[in-house]
Amino acid sequence: MPVDVTWLRSQMPDRRIEWHDVVDSTMTEASRLAEAAAPSGTVIGAEEQSAGRGRHGRSWHSEPGSGLYVSIILRRQFNPATLPVVTLALGLAAQEAILKATDLACDLRWPNDVLIQSKKCAGILTQLEASTHPSAIIAGIGINVNHSSFPVELNAIATSLRIASGRMESRERLLVDLLASIDTYCDLLETEGRRPIIEMFARASSYVSGRRVYVDQDGSQLRGTTAGLNDSGFLLLRSDDGTNSVIVAGGVRPCS
Ligand code: BTN
Repeated sequence: MPVDVTWLRSQMPDRRIEWHDVVDSTMTEASRLAEAAAPSGTVIGAEEQSAGRGRHGRSWHSEPGSGLYVSIILRRQFNPATLPVVTLALGLAAQEAILKATDLACDLRWPNDVLIQSKKCAGILTQLEASTHPSAIIAGIGINVNHSSFPVELNAIATSLRIASGRMESRERLLVDLLASIDTYCDLLETEGRRPIIEMFARASSYVSGRRVYVDQDGSQLRGTTAGLNDSGFLLLRSDDGTNSVIVAGGVRPCS
């Protein structure tokens, strides 16, 4: 069943919701609407993405009719220094919404992975649209909701809410909860700054301290133990060679 957009609009009458059967990426549609002065909070969703985008140039598996593939236009009074923390705030929002809508408890892996039993069930991609007036952040969120299986290359690392709970989950309910949680965490970031979000993320993630991980960075691999987040929300790593590194970007993976 496609998402019931009429019901969504009845639940959120003040929000602009654009829903597509198929797009290349909701990020592209959101960019276009941000350029065309769409208001903050506008949601662009799709049943299917033919070229769904992940971080670091990866693709995002977007099985038709199974996932939540949405981009949200945020026009907020964020201090530019808070931008890396927006991704953390969105992760907290996704974790909270999944718990509320499905009762499933998720872990967070810095900076943008939402995990259930160590497998990824959701990912977040943030993009700054500096050329629009006012400027906008596009929050791209993909949640594996009702997938019953994954392509073989993703099988060991991906899961869905349905696989975890053993039942079909409502994408509509989840989206309503997700948007409410995003508003809450963005309000907090706007009014209180980075610190509360960084502290909440550190509490909500098993990856922030004391985890043995490796990090791919610019073609090389760092191995070490995570040692908290700094004041900018970047991950601290105590490397095996004794040096301390600040991880600004890069995929963090557990050492097996
Ligand atoms: C990641 O974990 O690498 C980020 C994945 C983000 C996927 C979402 S799905 C909706 C939006 N449109 C895209 O093309 N990507 C994001």
